[in-house]
This record gives sequence, C-alpha cells and structure tokens, in this order.
Amino acid sequence: MPLAASLAPPVFPPQLDDAAPRPRIDGPLKVTGAAMYTSDFNLPGMLYAVPVCATIASGTITSLDTARAERMPGVKAVYHRKNVGKLFRVAPVAGFSSYLDERRPPFEDDTVRYYGQYVAAVVALTYEQAVAGARAVKVTYKSEKPDLRDHFDPAQMTDREPKVDSHRGDPDAAFQTAAITLDQTYSTPTETHNPIELHASVASWDGQSFTLYETSQAVVNSREVLSQVLGVPIENVRVISRFLGSGFGGKLWPWTHAMIAAAAARNLNRPVKLVVSREMMFQSVGHRPETQQRIRLGATPQGKLVALMHDSINHTSILDDYAEGCSEATGYSYSTSNLRATSGIVRRNVGTPTSMRGPGAVPGLFALESAMDELAIKLNLDPVALRLANEPEKDEGLNLPFSSRHFVECLKTGAERFGWADRTPAVGSMKRDGVTLGWGVAGCSWIAVRMDTTASVELRDDGTVRVSTATQDIGTGTYTVLAQTVSRTLGIPIGRVDVVLGDTSLPAGPMSGGSWATASVIPAVIDAVEQAKQILFMAAAQTDGTPFSKQRPEALALANGRVTLKSGSAAVPFEEVLQKNNLRAAVGQGKSAGTMGDPSLKFSTHSFGAQFAEVTWEPEIARLRVSRVVTVIDGGHILNPKPARNQIEGAVVMGIGMALFEETKYDPRFGVPINNNLADYIVATNADSPQIDVTFLDYPDLVLNPLGARGIGEIGLAGIAPAITNAVYHATGVRVRELPVRIEDLLTA
Ligand code: MOS
Repeated sequence: MPLAASLAPPVFPPQLDDAAPRPRIDGPLKVTGAAMYTSDFNLPGMLYAVPVCATIASGTITSLDTARAERMPGVKAVYHRKNVGKLFRVAPVAGFSSYLDERRPPFEDDTVRYYGQYVAAVVALTYEQAVAGARAVKVTYKSEKPDLRDHFDPAQMTDREPKVDSHRGDPDAAFQTAAITLDQTYSTPTETHNPIELHASVASWDGQSFTLYETSQAVVNSREVLSQVLGVPIENVRVISRFLGSGFGGKLWPWTHAMIAAAAARNLNRPVKLVVSREMMFQSVGHRPETQQRIRLGATPQGKLVALMHDSINHTSILDDYAEGCSEATGYSYSTSNLRATSGIVRRNVGTPTSMRGPGAVPGLFALESAMDELAIKLNLDPVALRLANEPEKDEGLNLPFSSRHFVECLKTGAERFGWADRTPAVGSMKRDGVTLGWGVAGCSWIAVRMDTTASVELRDDGTVRVSTATQDIGTGTYTVLAQTVSRTLGIPIGRVDVVLGDTSLPAGPMSGGSWATASVIPAVIDAVEQAKQILFMAAAQTDGTPFSKQRPEALALANGRVTLKSGSAAVPFEEVLQKNNLRAAVGQGKSAGTMGDPSLKFSTHSFGAQFAEVTWEPEIARLRVSRVVTVIDGGHILNPKPARNQIEGAVVMGIGMALFEETKYDPRFGVPINNNLADYIVATNADSPQIDVTFLDYPDLVLNPLGARGIGEIGLAGIAPAITNAVYHATGVRVRELPVRIEDLLTA
C-alpha cells in the first residue's frame, strides 16, 4: 500500500532545509490504525497454524501421536517431519546474502536441541481451534540432560584456539611490564528482543508462487532464504513487510515458523497465518546470547594505555555458530601499540542466538568501558580525562584514517552539558535532597557502512513523485527520510512524494539492520532522482511549443519542481512537460554499491558518542534509579532531527533496561526460559525513563554518501549500560561486572 500523498502532512511553501525536524509521514497511518502490520492481513479462506513446541531441551522424539488432534473440530492438518513435505537447508554463502541464523529447517529430524523447538504444527479454521489441536498432540521423548551452564570456560569453546579479531604489537609482554594493570571479567546475560509486535507469517500459494507477508527487517534476504528452503525459483516468492512493530534484530533473518506457514499453505492450497506467541518468542526467534569477556589493561602511571586485551566468549546453539562479535569496537576505540581481541563460542541447549539491539559492540563496550572506569579509579584519574588521554589519530586496528571521528568533542560537550566539572570522585560523596548520587561516563561507537541498494524514482504527470526500494521501515523513520530526500533534491513539497517500501517486487534494497539503511538508501535514491531528471530533460527538449524545444538536455535544470533553462528563467512544472508528451512518468533507476568488507576502503567509518548517566541511590528503601542521561552523538549529518532524537531516546531507555532489568533466565534442569513473558522479563518503561538530553554534533561524513548521513539507532544504546554501572559504583562502591545490576548486591555491600 503506497503512502498516499494526501495522508502526509502538507508543507507549503516547500521547505528545502533538509535538516528541519519533521514528523513521520507514516504517523497518520499508524495512529488511525490504517497501517497494515503482518498479522493484520487476513486473506480469503485463511487458516491458522499453531506450532507444537518441544518440552525438553535435549533428546529425541520417540513418538508423535496426532490422532486426537486430527479429530478435533476445525483442524485441517497436523504437520510434522513425516508429512510436511520437503524443506531444504540454505546453501552457505559469505556475507548477508541468503542469510539466516537457525539453518536447520523445521522438522528436519527427531532430535530436540532446545526447549520450544517446533516438533509439529496444527492448522485449523480458527486460531482457538489450532491452539486446542496443538495441545492435543501427544509427544513422547527420550530426554537427555541439557547443557545450560552459565559461565563459560575457554576449554568448552568449539575451537581450541579462539579467533583473533584484532591484533597489534605484543600485548602480553606490554601487559606484564605495565606499571598499572587491570584484569577483570565482565558478563552480560541472555536477553530477548521483545518487540511489541509478535513475529508472524501470512503465507499464500497459488499453485506456482508464494506471497509471504512477513515480520521482516530484510525482505530481499527473506525471499532468497525462503525460495531455497521451499525449493522454488526465486521469482516465485514475494515477501512483503509494510510496517514493523519493531524488530530489534529479532526479525532480521527468517525463522522456522515462516517455513512452517509457507509449507502448510502449499500443502493445503489455502492461506495460512502463524503468529509466534510471546512465550515462543523467548525460544525460537533468537536472543542476544550470554557473553563473558575478560579485559586486561596495562597503563603508565599517567594513564597512557600500553596494552589492551579483550577475550570474549558467547554461547550459541547446538547446531549454529553464532558469534556475538564483542570486540567490534575494541580495535579502534583507544590508542595503544599493543592490542589483541579474541572471541570464541560455546554450545548450549538453547535456540539459536541472533543480532539484538546493537550486537557485538553493545555488550563489548559494556566490558571495555567498565574496565576503563576501573582503570581510571586505579590511576586516580578522571574517567573523561583517561579517555581523552588515549584518543587515537587513526584507526590503529585497520591502520586507516577515520572518515570522521569527533569522540573528543562528544566527551567535552557531554561533560559540559552534564555538569561533570562538579563531580567529586569519592564513592558516595555526592548528595541531592538527602539522596546519594552517582555519576558515570562511557564512550561509545558503532560501525557505519553502506549496503548495496537499488531504488526507483518516478516523476509523474500529476506532479507527484514515487520513490521505491525493497528496504523496510521498521519504525525508525525510513519512509520519512526518503520522502525528505526526494523533496529536497527536486524542490517539491514532501506531501507530493509517495514512498513505497517493504516488498520484494520493488528494486532490491538493503536490510533494516546495523543502523545502515539510511546511509545505504540515500545515495541510491539521489542517483535515481538524477536519472529521472535526465529522462525528463530529454522529454522536455523534444517538446514543441515550450522554451525547451531545440535545447540540448544538458542545458536544462530542475528547480522547485520546475524545468528551467540553465541560462534563463523559463520554468515549467515537470508534470506539464510530461503531460505535453503524454508520458505518465519519467522513471529513474538508481543504485549505490555497498562498502561492507570492501578491501579497497580507504577509511574507517564509524559513529561515536559519549554517554553520561546519573543514578540516585536510596539504600533505605532499596531504590536505584537512573535520573538523568546526557548523550552526545557524532552520527554524521542528521537528516531529520526528530526521529533521530527519538531513536536515541529509545535506545537510552533500552540501555537502562540492559543495565538494570533485562535477563532471560533458563531453568537449568529443563532449558525452559523461566521469565518468558512481559510480566517477568522486565523491560524499561516510561516510569524508568529519566530526563534524556540528546545532542547531535552533525558533522557530515561525505565518505558514506553525498548527504553525509551515517545512521542512527544502535549507537544510542552503546555505552549506556557501562555509564550506568560506572555511576552505580560512584554512588555505592559496588562494581557491577555481571549485568543486570541486582539491588541485593548493592545492599549487601
Ligand atoms: Mo539490528 S540488531 O542490526 O536490527
């Protein structure tokens, strides 16, 4: 469904300031309920599928009795290994093409490797009938003792030697001889994404082709994966994801429920809807894995880092090798001649982990930025000063200049806005209204890259413009920023721009992940606008009775939506040029190439930031609150400050959840996530949200794209948890190295 121009807020006269804060053009659709999310699609004759989930975490299925379920009212089929039909694995490829984290298709064998693994699925006329049918399927198992140990021993790693992610100098020797050293281990727990919108699939099959409405952050990849799994040519699969009620990484890659829905639709020749329950969300659609990270720092007495070692381990599932990538930011954050970052994985009987809200760097920076705080205390140095003293001139890991790095300015601006100069370093020394305050700081960074993108821009004879690409708006403002870009480059009101996303029938676009979509899509859209203009100029030049006839196309320009002569003032609205030629549209196809993994890159491209947090601590009533956060973000040029600020504020709130609340607990006996609901899995809410002061430095990063935009989102979460635990130390004297903060640990200290 295109976003109708009439629903977008009209802006007259056209405002060409590209950095004007704008509300989202999809806002009206959302608040009126007109926006169609995946599970809103109800197709004629549609059936409902409900999976049967394994109730053991390790073992084999010895029998599966479906007879009772099959006789229940409304039940149309019960699918399992023997009758679902062929489902294939996806061939391995490098990079994010045909990518998925859980590679085993559903029902491939009788082995159960995690609690909640789908062992069957019941399809019925109504959802309630399918639920009742699923309950009536009787499964017996030969159960084995699952491995759910938390705390990892390097001896348990799948490879004896960890993977070296970054290395320079001789960190072991430098650490041995350093005047001041720190050797500590930090851990972050399993966390579950918990977007409010549940994962869902609505699958249909017409005898030849699938149409799959999916909760997807990456429809193009989803299509590649599902075509392979279902064994049909790629042109016989269309994946649609118009709106997403957030994904947080949990909807980046396809999961097995989508394959079940599609297989059932094909088998029954009727549309099938499958909505993953909140409980299942804790089991079978990914999670952030538990991480354990040892940090060793060596420094001179003045605080110059001479050695940095970061050794991380994360859990993964029994079959899939998910590496969290904790050391993503380690190699370039600080200057030191001697550094090594390694990583390894251990297997546990859990569902396959996946990217979650800033994978890698977010848990990695919890460890690194906690260690920097501990080192500052050892050195009796201000933690801001310690960071300033170790600012690198280039990315020493890649030995490349930074495209744009203003970390020092982030720290200084943040310190200024926070009032850091008033901080007294002694533990518990700061009070306000009788309440103990803690002030903490952490640096943050996030990788900025472009992904391959194609886009189409149509200048139409009714004066509107349609821009389309198969990326998605996952709630972050992609619809709006594309409308703005087109409005700005053509000089027309934003209300005349239709943006169409989230459909594999559009030109291939990137995943909405890594906070990379904006930087990737913008250059392709600008290119498409340019191509469309060239077509328009050729049409204008062949139009009799206008000032442009007999002109060369190169002599023409477009300004404020009008074709003009570069040399003169003649100006004709572009729609009139099209109308005179009986053309519906001038269509430009644009593209931009990805930069990820490009060995010819001459720059290290990242966003940076500084996070300052204040906590209030009231031991008498066991209350810890985050009362204030100041965040300064160097995220390139900010195209729309309104959703950008909104992204950072949301990320800060998630960071509070990460620091204080979020943790998925598995019962070590059975592997069941114990707190598998929103009552027991605590996420930060409005009541937990402090004053959040967001500043963007707004330095365009022209290495990434012509507008200098990098991307906003995950950077806002990076650094928040350590800023908070550093503040907790300042208030209480308790160093929290294992997230989340537990109030009892603060009280017993
Ligand atoms: Mo994000 S965790 O790359 O969706």
